[in-house]
Amino acid sequence: MTTDRVQDLIARMTPEEKWGQLQIIFRPHRADAEDLVRRGLGSVFWPRSAAQTNALQRVAVEQTRLGIPVLVGLDVIHGQRTIGPVPLAQAASFDPELVRALAASAAAEARSGGVTWTFSPMLDVSRDPRWGRVVEGFGEDVHLTAVMGTAMVRGYQGEDLAGAGAIAATAKHFVAYGQPEGGRDYNTVDLSPHRLRNVHLEPFWAAVAAGAASIMAAFNTVSGVPMHAHRGLLTGVLKEEWDFDGIVVGDADGVRNLLPHGVAEDLADAVGLAFGAGLDVEMGGAPWDLDDAARARVDTARLDDAVTRVLMLKERLGLFDRPYVDEAAEITAPTPASRALARRAAARSAVLLKNDGTLPLHAPRRVLLTGPFADSTDHLGAWTQSFGAAAGTIADAMRDRLPHADVRVMSGVDVLDDDAEGIPAVLAAARGCDVVVVCVGEPSSLSGEAASRSDLRLPGRQADLIRAVAGCGIPFVVVLENGRPLVVADWIDDAPAVLEAWHGGTEAARAIVDVLVGDAEPAGRLPMSFPRSAGQVPIHYAHENTGRPATTGGTLTTDVVDIGVQGPANVAEKFTSKYLDLELGPQFAFGHGGGYATFARSAPAVSEGCVRLEELEAGRSVTVTIDVTNTSERSGDDVIQVYVEDVVASIAPPVRRLVAFDRRTLAPGETTTFGMDIGFEQLGFWRTDAAAAAFVVEPGLFRLHVGSTLTTAVPVELRVE
Ligand code: BGC
Repeated sequence: MTTDRVQDLIARMTPEEKWGQLQIIFRPHRADAEDLVRRGLGSVFWPRSAAQTNALQRVAVEQTRLGIPVLVGLDVIHGQRTIGPVPLAQAASFDPELVRALAASAAAEARSGGVTWTFSPMLDVSRDPRWGRVVEGFGEDVHLTAVMGTAMVRGYQGEDLAGAGAIAATAKHFVAYGQPEGGRDYNTVDLSPHRLRNVHLEPFWAAVAAGAASIMAAFNTVSGVPMHAHRGLLTGVLKEEWDFDGIVVGDADGVRNLLPHGVAEDLADAVGLAFGAGLDVEMGGAPWDLDDAARARVDTARLDDAVTRVLMLKERLGLFDRPYVDEAAEITAPTPASRALARRAAARSAVLLKNDGTLPLHAPRRVLLTGPFADSTDHLGAWTQSFGAAAGTIADAMRDRLPHADVRVMSGVDVLDDDAEGIPAVLAAARGCDVVVVCVGEPSSLSGEAASRSDLRLPGRQADLIRAVAGCGIPFVVVLENGRPLVVADWIDDAPAVLEAWHGGTEAARAIVDVLVGDAEPAGRLPMSFPRSAGQVPIHYAHENTGRPATTGGTLTTDVVDIGVQGPANVAEKFTSKYLDLELGPQFAFGHGGGYATFARSAPAVSEGCVRLEELEAGRSVTVTIDVTNTSERSGDDVIQVYVEDVVASIAPPVRRLVAFDRRTLAPGETTTFGMDIGFEQLGFWRTDAAAAAFVVEPGLFRLHVGSTLTTAVPVELRVE
C-alpha cells in the first residue's frame, strides 16, 4: 500500500536520502542527533522531552531537502512514566483487556512526548527460565502469548495510528529467540519446522493479523541462518505468505553481528545480506559507514520497497501532516488514573502459589516485615526508562494501610550477599508478632537482556531467612518478587502461604499490601511452569507424551535392574522418561494459582459431542460450558482455562494445549456460566511434512479439559468426523 505523497517522495529521493530512511541510531547527544537528522537520518532513539523532540522534528521538516519527519523510537515496554507490571506478570493476570489498557496508557504517555515507535511486545515463547528475557514476554504458552501480544498491539496502536495516544508497536524478536541453547541470551536456536510453525511463529502471525506496524528480527540463528539474514522467514513467511506490509527492523547492531556469526565477510556483505533477506530498517547505523558503491548490492526495487514501508509508517502515524506534539499536553508524571490502573494491574498479576489460610492477613496488631524487599524500591523490573516513576516500599505501604498496627521492618539479609548474620535479630524481632511477612526475590537486574542464570534459586541467603522464620513457629507468609520462574524446592514446604508478586512496577508496593490484607483478590495464574530444579529445564506443560511416558519419578537406587527382555512391566517401572533424582513434573505447573474466594464448579459440557470436519472448516464451532458458583462470603475471580487433548493425530500431539481462557469476578453466592467457542482454529495444528505447511484438523476424538488450573481441569469429549 502506498500514497501519492510517498510515491512522489520516492521518485525524488537520491540513494543517499533513501538509505538515511533505513536506519535508526541509538540515543545520540542532542547536537549529534540534530546533525544526523540534517544529514538525512530517518529514525532516532530519543528519550527526551516533547520540546526537545519537537526541536528535532523541526530540523527534519525545515532543514532537510525533502522535509521528511523522523520516527522517534524507544523501548516503551511496560510503561513510560507510570511503570506497570513486567510483561510476564501481565500474562499472569490472564486478563487481556488489562494488558490492552496498560499499553494504551503507556502509549499516551509516550506519544505526548513525541515518541512514535516502540519495540514491544516481545512474543518469544520460552520454556527456559534460565533465559533472563522471559521477564519481557508472556511465558511458555503459544495461545496466551498470542492473546496478550495482540492485546498489547491494540493498546499501543489504538484504532488509528495517527491518534494522539497511539504509537507503532513492534512484535519481537522474529523468531524463536526464546529457545537459546542453555538458556544463554543470544545463543543458537536449532529447531524443527514443526515446533517453528506450531509454537514460535503463531504469536507473530496473530500480531500481524492484529495490524502490528513493525516486526523486529532476532539475534539468534534458526537452523544455522542468522535471523538478520534469513530470507526464507523474513521475506518468505512474513512478507509473502503473511502479506506483512509494515517494517522489519533489525535488532541492535544485528546486522554488524552477521560478521561474528560467521556468515558475512565485511559490513558491505552484512548490509547486502540483511536487506536482501527482507530487513527494512537497520538499528545502529551500519549503512552510514558504507559508500554508495558498497550499498549498491541491494537492488533498487528492494531499496524502494524498504523506503516505501518506512514512509508509509510515517504517513499512517500522521507525521507528515502533524509532525509536532503539543508541548503543553505532555504527560511528565503518573496521573491518579494511571496510578490506579498500575495498582490494579499489579494486584491482578499476583499469583497465590499456596495458602493455608494465613492470607489474607487477619487485622494484625504487630507485623514484622523482613527480607531484602521489605524496605526496597526495586519493584520496577528490567525494562524501564530512567524517567519512569519510582516505586514506594512495602513497609511504607503497609504502615499507610494499617495505621494502628505496630509495623516493624528488618531486612535480615541482603539480596545478593552471602552474609546471614542478620537472621538472629529477625528471629528476636519476630517474637510477639502476629505475623511475619518475608519479602524476598531477585533484583530487577537479574532478569532481562543478557541476564541469564544457571541457578534458579533465590540468590544470597534468602532461603535461609525463610527457613529460620519457619522455625520460630509464628505465622508467616512469603512474598516473592522476581522476573522469572524460580526454583523454590529448598524452602517451599516450610512456607504456609506464598504470594508471587513479580516485579509489579510503580504501584507494586501498594498492590502487594492490597492483596496481603485482602482488599484485592489474588487470582493470577502462572504463565510459566516453576521447575523443581534447574536440571529439569526446559520444562513446559505442552510437551509430547513420548513413547514411554513416566507415571512416577525420583527413585535413586543402587540396585542393578535385570533388564532381561524389555517387557511391559519393565517399561512401566524403569524405562520411562524421567529423572531418577527428581519427582515428576514441575513444582508448580503452568496455569496454577489460588485465591481467597472459593468456588464450586460443575462438570464441563459441550454443546454437541460430535461435529463434522466440513462444518468446522466452514466456520462452525461448538461451545464448551462450565457453571461456577462463588461459595465464599467474599467477591472473587475465577479463571477458567480450556485445554485441548488431540487423542490421536498424524504427528505426535502435545498432551495438552491451552486454547481458551476467561477471568471473571463473581459476587458472594453468584453463579455464572463460562462459555468458550471451540472451532477449527482451536482444534487444528500445522503440518509441516509436505512442501507447503498446512493448518489441519484431523478427525477423531478430542478431549477438552476445563477447569481453573491445568492440573484440576476435567475432561469432556468431542468427536470430529
Ligand atoms: C534488544 C531489543 C531492544 C533493542 C533496543 C536490543 O538489545 O534485544 O529488544 O528493542 O536493544 O533497545
